[in-house]
Amino acid sequence: MGKPTESNESLTVRDERTGKTYTIPIVNNTIQATAFKQIKAQPKPGEREENETERGLRVADRGFMNTAVIESTITYIDGDNGILRYRGYPIEQLAESSSFLEVAYLLIYGALPSTRQFDLFEHEVMTHSIAHVDTEGFFHSFRYDAHPMAILTSAFAALGSYYAEANPSLQGQALFTKSDPASLANMDKQIYRLIGKATTLAAMAYRVRQGRDFVVPPVGMSYTESFLYQLDHLGEGDYRPNPVLSKALDVLFLLHADHELNASATTVLQTGSSLVDPYSAISTGCASLYGPLHGGANEAVIRMLISIGKPENVPAFLEAVKRREKVLSGFGHRVYKTSDPRSFIVRRTADEVFKVTGKDELLETAMKLHDMALKDDYFVSRKLAPNVDFWSGLIYRAMGFPLDFFPVLFAVPRVVGWLAHWRQMMLQPGGVKIWRPRQIYLGAGKREYVPIDKRKEEGGKEPSKVLHTGQGKRTQLATFKGKTKL
Ligand SMILES: CC(C)(COP(=O)(O)OP(=O)(O)OC[C@H]1O[C@@H](n2cnc3c(N)ncnc32)[C@H](O)[C@@H]1OP(=O)(O)O)[C@@H](O)C(=O)NCCC(=O)NCCS
Repeated sequence: MGKPTESNESLTVRDERTGKTYTIPIVNNTIQATAFKQIKAQPKPGEREENETERGLRVADRGFMNTAVIESTITYIDGDNGILRYRGYPIEQLAESSSFLEVAYLLIYGALPSTRQFDLFEHEVMTHSIAHVDTEGFFHSFRYDAHPMAILTSAFAALGSYYAEANPSLQGQALFTKSDPASLANMDKQIYRLIGKATTLAAMAYRVRQGRDFVVPPVGMSYTESFLYQLDHLGEGDYRPNPVLSKALDVLFLLHADHELNASATTVLQTGSSLVDPYSAISTGCASLYGPLHGGANEAVIRMLISIGKPENVPAFLEAVKRREKVLSGFGHRVYKTSDPRSFIVRRTADEVFKVTGKDELLETAMKLHDMALKDDYFVSRKLAPNVDFWSGLIYRAMGFPLDFFPVLFAVPRVVGWLAHWRQMMLQPGGVKIWRPRQIYLGAGKREYVPIDKRKEEGGKEPSKVLHTGQGKRTQLATFKGKTKL
């Protein structure tokens, strides 16, 4: 956003409470929220003291609808025109000609690599893929039906415990913000480890539920080939994943590598702003991505399609969406208000995959849903178009992945984007400022503590009484010291 003093454009604001006029600089079409703090007034008679009116105007933005929280050179999205560029390169060109690891280099370091640079990066990432043998016990500690995203989220945090040299709590808070060669090399090492081990941890989360032994990451395979190998290899000699599937996964990984300041990247920055280690920060990004409004959407799309069933049920389903009884998963986006450019590439990739796997039985239902929604005024008027998740789930299903593994297939490549944003923030000029937003306090004013025997019950302000899992009928009917248990 630059220094406000360099600006010759400005916004003039008149505070009608005081009659005072303020000039707020505009730089890069942006005003600083802190500039509004100078706009102060005396509280109106009877006004709540918690408004802090005399301490300056606050800026509210529930859900970050129009707030820029960082200067970035990584990804550009023009939501109105359906444009996505990584470091200036259109996503369509990258999907056509580049590869996931090359794009990872581009996103993190800011330029497309030369052959030498790429070879070094690929070598480092691929040779940092083996997880410490003790992590195996960690994976075995989960319940048999644990969601793989719960496992992966915890695994990233647990991974950090193996690397004391990457922990600012132990090494000093400036560990990653110094920008000197030693600090940068240390940062790069954690980047190699996190990208290299993302597939390893994800494959372990997959295999532990299948009751399969873990696989040592192979040598000499591409990133996605290695991932498929780690998921599926059962001991056959010279096992090689299908090239169409590993290529399709590479394209999907490339498309999912970054998406500007979405919820999970913002979460990584929010967590990282306390200068915690990158493993903990990535783990929180993973948790954020797990939610059904974000990375869980590709799973939700398939569950929705299964619930719709046959194409003839689509009209009734859309009517239910319009009555707000259901959500059309895989449609709509906070930023894209025309179409998500990734959705076209995913749609083409789906056709490639279906050639080797056969068509998914839900494809026709998906196509009818897609076509009807795009012609329906409810969705058109709200600018709701398919997002990347609408088709990607069908590819994953055709490739035989279980539904709850879909968000993992999103999280693994997104580690790259999270790291790119985290690295950029750590190295930003002026250092890192902890992210501490404000709130609008609307709660009780100051009041005095009342002893329990003098209190009146406040209606509607008590926790629910819940059924205790594990306490079956017999336990509920049993007595303990003469009283029933509940
Ligand atoms: C992605 C998403 C969370 C964006 O939310 P948002 O920017 O806050 O958009 P809003 O919730 O304000 O939506 C605007 C309007 O469209 C409607 N809408 C948005 N997405 C919708 C969907 N998928 N199905 C039905 N209606 C939808 C909202 O109900 C709202 O209608 P209203 O103005 O009449 O109240 C939202 O579109 C969504 O939930 N999509 C489904 C989940 C999904 O696919 N997520 C993956 C994103 S990559």
